[in-house]
Amino acid sequence: MNKMTLETERLLIRPLARNDAPMIQKYAGDLRIAQMTILIPHPYPEGLAESWIEETLANPSPGGPFALTLKLGGEFIGVMELSLCDDKQRAEAGFWIAPLFWGHGLCTEALKEVIDYGFRELKLLRIFAGHFSENPASGRVQKKAGLKWEGVHRMGAIRFGEPRDLVMCAITRPDWEAREKTISKV
Ligand SMILES: CC(C)(COP(=O)(O)OP(=O)(O)OC[C@H]1O[C@@H](n2cnc3c(N)ncnc32)[C@H](O)[C@@H]1OP(=O)(O)O)[C@@H](O)C(=O)NCCC(=O)NCCS
Repeated sequence: MNKMTLETERLLIRPLARNDAPMIQKYAGDLRIAQMTILIPHPYPEGLAESWIEETLANPSPGGPFALTLKLGGEFIGVMELSLCDDKQRAEAGFWIAPLFWGHGLCTEALKEVIDYGFRELKLLRIFAGHFSENPASGRVQKKAGLKWEGVHRMGAIRFGEPRDLVMCAITRPDWEAREKTISKV
């Protein structure tokens, strides 16, 4: 198995592949997903998924982006990434899941694994994420994966021309190590 492929109880988390393009085109083109992200354009232009995948293949990063796929059957269900900062010691987590699969704990399962990978393999010091204040589902995922609330960047983002408040959360290496110690004692 590719060394950048991670495995959880229900998921394989692997680098993007060219044949993921139709699913990315379909799901990233869904307003329910695009409107909660900062960068996904809407409408989603034809061919963008292909060119984005080509870009990731030409410039592979240990932080992904990763395709989230079901272990059973291999269906593509979403994307997750640790976008590394220039110092390579901090990363921003970003993710989306296809609406059909919402509410089954899959994003939380993936994020926990990707966070463990980020601290264990990439030796990160800090993983952070932001979500719009009107996106409690993302906030809940971040909390369940161990990120702590750090504050709100009021009007911290402009989306579709409108200012949006950005809730910031993060997990540090000491937080993660403390959690690991607790888990290994159980
Ligand atoms: C955010 C997102 C990734 C969550 O994926 P998911 O697989 O459904 O997440 P999980 O099932 O692991 O957890 C979702 C949690 O949010 C909760 N939740 C969902 N909608 C909610 C709402 N409107 N208010 C409060 N909590 C909500 C769920 O109940 C669940 O918490 P629980 O396990 O305590 O019950 C998915 O909704 C998505 O892709 N949204 C659009 C894109 C996006 O927001 N990306 C993140 C940008 S910061």
